Amino acid sequence: MDDFLKFAEMIRNSSKTVVFTGAGMSTESGLPDFRSDNGLWKEVDPTQLASVEAMEMGGEEFFSFYRDRIDTLMKVKPNPGHHILAEWERKEVIAGIITQNVDGLHHRAGSKNVAELHGNLREVRCRRCQKIFPASLFLESRECAECGGRLRPCVVLFGEMLPVEGLTKSEDMLRGCDLFIVLGSSLQVSPANWFPMDARKAGADLVIVNRTPTPLDEMADIVISGSIVEVLEKVNAIRENGMGLL
Ligand code: APR
Repeated sequence: MDDFLKFAEMIRNSSKTVVFTGAGMSTESGLPDFRSDNGLWKEVDPTQLASVEAMEMGGEEFFSFYRDRIDTLMKVKPNPGHHILAEWERKEVIAGIITQNVDGLHHRAGSKNVAELHGNLREVRCRRCQKIFPASLFLESRECAECGGRLRPCVVLFGEMLPVEGLTKSEDMLRGCDLFIVLGSSLQVSPANWFPMDARKAGADLVIVNRTPTPLDEMADIVISGSIVEVLEKVNAIRENGMGLL
């Protein structure tokens, strides 16, 4: 049985499937990932740019980096892979998504049960009064309209803890998970990469779809190297048209 049929069979037999996504989920929407050849971190050192220190120093580099990303997000849309995952949630094929992505494309595709481990770039907040504003405000101003404090993106910066809400939601999703699917992550960043390991240790089957090898490949039941959109479209077609193919 080829990997796609095996993958479709695992989804069919699973009682609780959780999907874990990284930046590779959004490259087919036109967004760069971080560690591929044309990734965001190829040109810059994230610990120097996307860090609390960089924000505290208030340099133009920090603000223009996030302003550019917020501006880009307004020009992209969910790809067919995001829409398939949203459909699978509606049909209760998957329980939900744990994402490292801050682009909000799962929400825009209609996914509801999404745990955002690294925050989001949909919003910015005032560092003084903590008021939340749409990220578009950051394109025009650095100051809070309410109190004049400094605005910051609602993403987790290097050196910051992950948001309790994202962690709690992820841990709830992991409970009883018997199939854990990784889509488009190099699995090099902790504690996010603990989730696939914890799922595997708890006895879940593990499937990894990623263009390049990851450190968890040898513990996975299936590893598919290729386009996430193509893989999801193929597995969805098997699910819809031909589980009899199995
Ligand atoms: N199909 C399949 N795999 C893909 C695709 C695609 N269309 N596009 C990219 N990939 C793979 C790449 O081969 C790469 O291994 O997706 C992976 C993305 O890995 P990273 O760029 O490291 O992104 P991610 O794993 O999400 O990074 C985790 O690091 O800097 C932090 O906060 C940032 O959330 C991010 C975290």
